[in-house]
Amino acid sequence: MAVAGKNGGARRGCFITLEGGEGAGKSTQARMLAERLSLRGLECVTTREPGGSPHAEELRAVLLSGAVASLGPMAEALLFAAARVDHLDHTIRPALARGAYVICDRFADSTRAYQGALGNIDPRLILALEAVTVGATRPDLTLMLDLPAEVGLARARARRGGGATDRFESEGVEFHRGLRSSFLDIAAGEPSRCFVIDASGTPAGIAESIWVVVERRLLAPRPPGGSFKSTAAKPADGRRDDVRQDPQNQQDPQERVKA
Ligand code: TYD
Repeated sequence: MAVAGKNGGARRGCFITLEGGEGAGKSTQARMLAERLSLRGLECVTTREPGGSPHAEELRAVLLSGAVASLGPMAEALLFAAARVDHLDHTIRPALARGAYVICDRFADSTRAYQGALGNIDPRLILALEAVTVGATRPDLTLMLDLPAEVGLARARARRGGGATDRFESEGVEFHRGLRSSFLDIAAGEPSRCFVIDASGTPAGIAESIWVVVERRLLAPRPPGGSFKSTAAKPADGRRDDVRQDPQNQQDPQERVKA
């Protein structure tokens, strides 16, 4: 494992994560966003969690099979974290170091919501685990795809056809309602990073909403003299703190982009 921040010194790319409940359409949106960024000549890497590197994909199979569920949410959180360390070291950090846009379908907010909030693990523990695993490689932008739990579950069911549900899909609707509010709480707590997207519309409409956010927050030209820059010390990994500190980029937690 790379020590947190050790590989981050050369970070030049941009890290975007998509989060949300089941059936929110994250993977479709990740693909559509990558296509659109690629048209601008930007290198994009689409990846996912759990998984995204060979060893992490092996852990994904174990986690989604439900084999670890009986050990409890803490064991699950540790395994998700182990997969994340491998993913960061072998996929995410190398791509960011060469200047790519990394678009990741789920990341650490999923651990906060699924294992932390719903698994009743002390949030301080979850954040400590996150600090050790993620270090300075935090997302520049997190798109929270939001829709009612019932709608998401129905979509996930339709997508699966007759196939078996995985470990988390098979939880009841109350679990998924709790999940939705956990993601909304995370977004409200970090408005400079997170942006809630109404995911109840069509894929094309949702993609358009996402593009508005990405253009405004990540692609818009900096004003002359880079006055968006924070006077705060630059983070150790040299990440795009201009994006994070721009007051115009702050989302009103109540504001939602309509698809
Ligand atoms: P996946 O098939 O990728 O689901 P989705 O299409 O909803 O993203 O399965 C990933 C599952 O793993 C999903 O139910 C959420 C769960 N998960 C966690 O519980 N903790 C985590 O840290 C991550 C990354 C995922």
